[in-house]
Amino acid sequence: MQKKEFSVTPWDVKGEVDYERLVKEFGISKIDGKLLNRIKKHTKELHPMLRRGIFFAHRDLNWILDEYEKGNKFFLYTGCGPSGPIHLGHLGTWLFTKWLQDVFDVELWFQFTDDEKFLFKEKSFDEIEKWTHENILDVVALGFKPEKTHFLIDTKHAGLMYPIAIQFAKKINFSTIRAVFGLENDANIGQIFYTSMQAVPAVVPSVLKKKNIPCLIPLAIDQDPHFRIARDVYPKLGYYKPAIIHSLFMPSMSGPKGKMSSSEEHTAILTTDKEKEVENKIKRYAFSGGRDTIEEHRKLGGNPDVDVSFQYLRFLFEPSDEKLEKIEKDYRSGKMLTSELKKITIEKINAFLKEHQKKREKARKEIEKFIYKNSS
Ligand code: TRP
Repeated sequence: MQKKEFSVTPWDVKGEVDYERLVKEFGISKIDGKLLNRIKKHTKELHPMLRRGIFFAHRDLNWILDEYEKGNKFFLYTGCGPSGPIHLGHLGTWLFTKWLQDVFDVELWFQFTDDEKFLFKEKSFDEIEKWTHENILDVVALGFKPEKTHFLIDTKHAGLMYPIAIQFAKKINFSTIRAVFGLENDANIGQIFYTSMQAVPAVVPSVLKKKNIPCLIPLAIDQDPHFRIARDVYPKLGYYKPAIIHSLFMPSMSGPKGKMSSSEEHTAILTTDKEKEVENKIKRYAFSGGRDTIEEHRKLGGNPDVDVSFQYLRFLFEPSDEKLEKIEKDYRSGKMLTSELKKITIEKINAFLKEHQKKREKARKEIEKFIYKNSS
């Protein structure tokens, strides 16, 4: 049987993603029950995204816990590519990262890759700077601890980052980048260099403290290739390899198997959308697992596995397993109609966004507390 075609790179996700195959091809490990129990020993509760297998794979998570248990705390590192507005698809990783920061009480380094987005998108640097500012408001609004959170903006923190980046750049050759990312000869030379910038925050605290500190990177699985390459380099430069925890993609409006992206701008739900816009988007665009007619739906039931509204509840908006299971059961049996399911999802998203938008406004005055200030 022919393998179904799909591709996952940091710049593009195409086709129906086969996660089992990605795990094999990327050489990462699934998170199993044993590892979940080990995490639970420290966190008491498991985050819904762990219980539900949304954060589903890892590299070296056992090592991070070994070190943690020895009293050697890790720090978290994740990031945002500022090329457009923040939509619901971005939030999963960041909300999960906030949970990790809270339960483990650790530092977070957060990278804004304005250089990356300038190099990879047909956008002016002015426009990218505008999105950097807008995206920062969303990240601050999520409630990270200001005293333990440090934002790095690649072009603004170049003085700190560039000398580290060139250490990585010198040990990664063009053929590796070309093979892993599928870059062609017309790729601009900034694109070829970029992975070395994304490698940097994983060692910034070690550089600043002049001692190695373990790092854990929560990310959506498309970002793994940068670190797959860079992880070979960290030890060559005398650092630990960062550990990684990988999530599935939040489904796009048009179906469960792709990735929600801002290029779907008019259908994706943005953090700045008003109640009515959320309602319209879900009603009009959210792919439904329901049947064509109410009679058929009552008789045959709906399919929550492909239903985007249901998947949003599962990914982010219904933390109670009990409630989620009841919705799933009622939808599958035909007792709950698509319109009823969508109504629940719309209410949940709007309740979240109402709070988020308030915090996003407040964030305007708080940005400076988060941006890393070189103490030297
Ligand atoms: N490249 C990522 C993006 O386009 C942003 C990013 C930078 C990131 N460093 C990261 C994401 C570390 C996850 C982990 O969105």
